[in-house]
Amino acid sequence: MVSFKYLTTALLATTALAAPHAKSHSHHNLHASKRATSSSKRGAAYNDASLVNALSSSGTVSWAYDWNMDIMGTLPTDIEYVPMLWGTKMFTGWFAAIQTLLNSGSSYIMGFNEPDIASQAAMSSSSAANYYREYITKFSGEAKLVSPAVTNGVGSDVGLDWMRNFLDSCTDCDITALAVHWYGDSADDFKTFVGQATDLAAEYSLSETWVTEFALNSDLSGSGGTQTSSDFLTEVLPWLDEQTAVSRYAYFMCADGYLLSGSDLSISGKAYTS
Ligand code: BGC
Repeated sequence: MVSFKYLTTALLATTALAAPHAKSHSHHNLHASKRATSSSKRGAAYNDASLVNALSSSGTVSWAYDWNMDIMGTLPTDIEYVPMLWGTKMFTGWFAAIQTLLNSGSSYIMGFNEPDIASQAAMSSSSAANYYREYITKFSGEAKLVSPAVTNGVGSDVGLDWMRNFLDSCTDCDITALAVHWYGDSADDFKTFVGQATDLAAEYSLSETWVTEFALNSDLSGSGGTQTSSDFLTEVLPWLDEQTAVSRYAYFMCADGYLLSGSDLSISGKAYTS
């Protein structure tokens, strides 16, 4: 929910304060642009599947997720759906749901959502490792596995510290990709954080890093994007595309007030799809 996101952002700001020492296509070229789509790192983080077409019709978005184990509608046919096991509230029904999705071609499974904060999946790194093995590693023969997605908060068992502890406990979890979220105020801070994430992934021999939520704090106003966020995206998207260690990313989010204004692209949505 959007209200959760405001809370997340507030909590991140609190955490940072508490730990100051830590760190358009013609018919003719439509076919070609669709082929290009499948190799794009860019994704749509959505709640309403009917809105994804606004982003994906650009041909620059290849995948989507909805913090869920259910597409909740119909996605454009050229978009790959990636299921997520959000947290303990989704354990009931998970085994049946994920098997159905794997049978229909899902090739990745995303782990818990922001387990390092109380308002989201709220798990210690050690209990998350046990849950991960039980609910996700079980499917390692059928899909590639993405780690839980941590925030860029800083502290003991928060953010990348949580991730390091988790990876130390989950050495037998068969994880391919490390997932992180970032909310902040500048492109430089974003690049620094993503660099820390890819360094950590390399240290643990994880071949991929996914940035599955990110946004400028100033873009969370629900006003449909700002020129500042459009400029931010214009700077960081080519940089992300150049980082071979980063294989997927999704700006927050494919919804009215964010990348969309109503069901059309907002100013930041236009930057995200160009
Ligand atoms: C929540 C999800 C929600 C998403 C978009 C995330 O912070 O964990 O449950 O779907 O925000 O509103």
